[in-house]
Amino acid sequence: MREHPKSRHHTGLVTPIRRAVLAVFGVAVLSGCAGEQSALAPAGPFAQAPHDLILIVMGIAAAVLVFVQALIIYSVVKFRTRKDDDGSLPKQVHGNTRLEILWTIIPAVILAVIAAPTVQLVFQTMDEPDDEFMTVQVIGHRWWFEYYYPDYDIYTANELAIPAGTPVRLEMRSGDPGHAQDRAVIHSFWVPRLAGKQDMLPNHTTYLNIQADEPGRFIGQCAEYCGLSHVNMRARVEALSAQDFDAWVAKQQTAAVVPTAGTLQAQGRDLFHNLGDRQACATCHQVWEGDSQRRPAVGPDLTHLMSRKEFIGAIENLDEPTLRQWLKDPDSIKPMQYETNGIGMPNLNLTEGELDALVAYLLTLG
Ligand code: CUA
Repeated sequence: MREHPKSRHHTGLVTPIRRAVLAVFGVAVLSGCAGEQSALAPAGPFAQAPHDLILIVMGIAAAVLVFVQALIIYSVVKFRTRKDDDGSLPKQVHGNTRLEILWTIIPAVILAVIAAPTVQLVFQTMDEPDDEFMTVQVIGHRWWFEYYYPDYDIYTANELAIPAGTPVRLEMRSGDPGHAQDRAVIHSFWVPRLAGKQDMLPNHTTYLNIQADEPGRFIGQCAEYCGLSHVNMRARVEALSAQDFDAWVAKQQTAAVVPTAGTLQAQGRDLFHNLGDRQACATCHQVWEGDSQRRPAVGPDLTHLMSRKEFIGAIENLDEPTLRQWLKDPDSIKPMQYETNGIGMPNLNLTEGELDALVAYLLTLG
């Protein structure tokens, strides 16, 4: 009779306890999946499909979990140390061909069952939608999303307006050739309630279909680490009724109104285009006044800035105090370190007077 280390008797119990703790912790974490940014609350067909797949996979995984846990509990109870235990080992076996074949085939079958709908869905995600759809180009910048509507020649940022009930095909890429951003990085566009997640790559177009069945506001987030302010790169989708969307398009297609000469707003417009030896706002931002071509800019298009509810990568409400603070000290709101890496919004050392005029001007851009 051999003595074996005492710890052997404990390992069988520690694992289930640790797993129980993990399970409780997991439930707590998963409860965070509910709410307005949840893939478990799909709001359109392109989110419904991955949601259904998640449930299938979770169902199978749960069945496997229960089966394995049951076997563990059974073994722990049946082979626990008893008072009259003489310390001898159970009957030792080496190898069991039939069992080994079985537990190779069963997981292979399970994986095949999961793989079929998964692969099908991956391709379906990228296919052109069957119904009539709208195209929007999405460009990931550090650290904000730019949207261009080729059918309407509209540029906007941060908030993606779409008509509810219509499939929208996003043509996505990262960076903007010709600007500082062509040192592009990988971003990922993810609005969990509307679609799965898709990477945005430099020099390569990827596609993602989204649709919101009902009007509403849907929150997203850049889902691929893209540097300093990755966490401050949010996406918003505004799903509008057909009527509201038409009104939105009509508004976005109009040129910005030039303020009356001699006003504070007009002074702000002058500063927007000329800040002396400092870089003018217009170097990077466009306010389209109907004369020139609309064009992609280095920074967000500001023609109808005030028609948006949020700005700064959709992390802040667009109101006067925040706008002022943003112009005064951008890094206090969103770290970018423009002075070091040339990306993002620079601190232009604006005087209080310049801030008054610029903010007054920007507030006219409705
Ligand atoms: Cu863009 Cu993370």
